[in-house]
Amino acid sequence: ERPVSPDLSSCGEPNVPCYVRPFDCCPPLIKGSIDFKPPPVSQLRIRPAAHLVDEHYKTKFARVIELMKALPPEDPRNFMQQANVHCAYCNGAYKQEGYDVQLEIHSSWLFFPFHRLYLYFFERILGNLIDDPDFALPFWNWDHPGGMEMPDMFEAKAYRSLYDEHRNQNHIPPVVVDLNYDYLNRPRPNDEQKMLNLNTMHRQMISNSTTPYLFFGRPYRGGDRPMQGPGSIECMPHNTVHNWCGDVRQPKGEDMGIFYSAARDPLFYAHHSNVDRMWTIWDTLPNHKTTQIRDNDWHNSSFYFYDEKKDLARVKVHDCLDNKKLGYDYQKVGIPWLPGPP
Ligand code: C2O
Repeated sequence: ERPVSPDLSSCGEPNVPCYVRPFDCCPPLIKGSIDFKPPPVSQLRIRPAAHLVDEHYKTKFARVIELMKALPPEDPRNFMQQANVHCAYCNGAYKQEGYDVQLEIHSSWLFFPFHRLYLYFFERILGNLIDDPDFALPFWNWDHPGGMEMPDMFEAKAYRSLYDEHRNQNHIPPVVVDLNYDYLNRPRPNDEQKMLNLNTMHRQMISNSTTPYLFFGRPYRGGDRPMQGPGSIECMPHNTVHNWCGDVRQPKGEDMGIFYSAARDPLFYAHHSNVDRMWTIWDTLPNHKTTQIRDNDWHNSSFYFYDEKKDLARVKVHDCLDNKKLGYDYQKVGIPWLPGPP
């Protein structure tokens, strides 16, 4: 067996563009880890659609992100520390345990499980900071015509902690997202852009995702070179939405447009919440015979995350395959791309 796991002791400087001041995105020193067991679930946390939440929710979400940003910089629950978790797993800061190759969780079958678990621990920390275990992240509902703009709370003056100045200023609300974005602005009437987006969703979720490997991405085992190949949704709209949000005034589209800085934008977590929701939806679709990858190298691959008590947990892919066992689900909203083009 060749599962993939980070060698924590190998953590070093990430590979970042040369104009970036050298920095280290390794987590604070590790004293030993516990093996993750999903805690018993009494009630599901329901992640709401970001464009449907009320003022009360927005205020609470902004407040908790503010609390996270205010934690001491070396606290692993601090917002920047959390953003750096993404940097470390995406920019070669770690080597793989047992192999002299870099670890990278994008563009392979590790994409969905890594980001699911990353958000899971992020959300547990948020809930703990406001002493509300039912608190759940919002999802940016870019697959629904009602949610195809950057959710307004991230750009509103009232919620400063959710704001990031490094965003494409031509794409702030009420501009409709282009899920096919290729760095070219092609202004279209909103209805036309929304219809194109629904077609993109149908194609990526249905036509291009007829097997687990097409959906999740190519196998990536211990010793393999990174980036074996992405799944349909990782490619688009996941990547395209990142690029659409990134600030064109920055050299590489920081923050959202490049891995090392993407998770510094609070919008990242709402974007990834919807990416993760696509996994929960795909599991229920009839366009494929099986939703499971039956391969121990996938099931036994593992990552490390700090939890709300600052304990380090080692978590296997196998433990995240069912979101309900992790205690959360998504608000039910219409899925207009399901039937396909008219
Ligand atoms: Cu780890 Cu959306 O990228």
